[in-house]
Amino acid sequence: MKNGRFLTLGIETSCDETAAAVVADGRAVCSNIISSQIDIHRVFGGVVPEIASRHHLTNINTVIETAMKEASVSFDDIDLIGVTKGPGLVGAVLIGLSTAKALSYAMKKPFVGVHHIKAHVCSSLIQDTELKPPFLSLIVSGGHTDIIDIVSLREYKLLGQSRDDAAGEAFDKVARVLGLSYPGGPEIDRLATKGNPKSINFKRVMLEEGSLDFSFSGTKTGVLNYINTEKQAGRDINTADIAASFQASVVDVLVEKTRMALKKTGRKTLVLGGGVAANSSLRTRIKEVCSEEDISLILPSPELCTDNAAMVACAATMDYKTGIEDSLDLDAYSTIAF
Ligand code: KG4
Ligand code: ZN
Repeated sequence: MKNGRFLTLGIETSCDETAAAVVADGRAVCSNIISSQIDIHRVFGGVVPEIASRHHLTNINTVIETAMKEASVSFDDIDLIGVTKGPGLVGAVLIGLSTAKALSYAMKKPFVGVHHIKAHVCSSLIQDTELKPPFLSLIVSGGHTDIIDIVSLREYKLLGQSRDDAAGEAFDKVARVLGLSYPGGPEIDRLATKGNPKSINFKRVMLEEGSLDFSFSGTKTGVLNYINTEKQAGRDINTADIAASFQASVVDVLVEKTRMALKKTGRKTLVLGGGVAANSSLRTRIKEVCSEEDISLILPSPELCTDNAAMVACAATMDYKTGIEDSLDLDAYSTIAF
């Protein structure tokens, strides 16, 4: 507690970002430090779990110290430690979780392990400090494509999820085939601005009528088949047209399913989160839908969309305020329900 404000230290290490943040009263960001390992994993074309864990271990203390320094607080001022418990790369999650437990034990501070996707939802509580449930959320990241109805901060209802590749995973795989570097999402986003989204008609997989689930692996395979066919026929491929057409096919499905979920739930507020929520075409299209349907839209800043620890601190504070606290035997999880 400092100046009457409840202070949470957040820690996030579920994938390739080592992150720590200090958040006041759950929603005011005092510091948000992200040490990205992207340059290290880029040469391998994707995240190598063992390397990610090692780098988290090397970086975590410095990242936490920097977050504390930037927020001008000491460990005595901290009221709560929040950390990602999963889902994620389990070895990577374990580094953040063990650090949080060690700090909690040594400093005699409570700690809460949070669900990574819940934390992505909470980035909107930081973006709009007046936001409160109920609202609908679309979380699109490298590992998840989830439509979740946030009934209350304790009741998250999963309405739809990916049955195969997550949207970000499909972006990364298609980018790789196009010779773009990792992570592929931002690269495709950039290249797509130079292409024609209507030039190639890639599959829009909607699944059974009324289903809010997603399937992007067929679309990804469609892109691979298209490239192979064109190359075998000796034709030049236009990578910008492929990027724009692929992006349009993914965005069309995300937007349409979100529209269906808004109708089904009757929710009047929509929040976006996860790395793919930084996609410029998705942001534009979702804004159009929300204005057509008179829905209020919360779009976190790109820094709050991708993995960060401020969202983890926010989620932990919300849980703690409703009476949740974890003990030192909490496990790290590669998959976990809400
Ligand atoms: O949420 P996030 O930072 O990490 C996970 O929890 O997965 O999301 C990372 C994913 C990657 O697949 C990356 O390619 C994608 O988000 N991404 C994007 C964009 N920026 C990041 N995808 C499409 N367009 C973008 N601008
Ligand atoms: Zn994430």
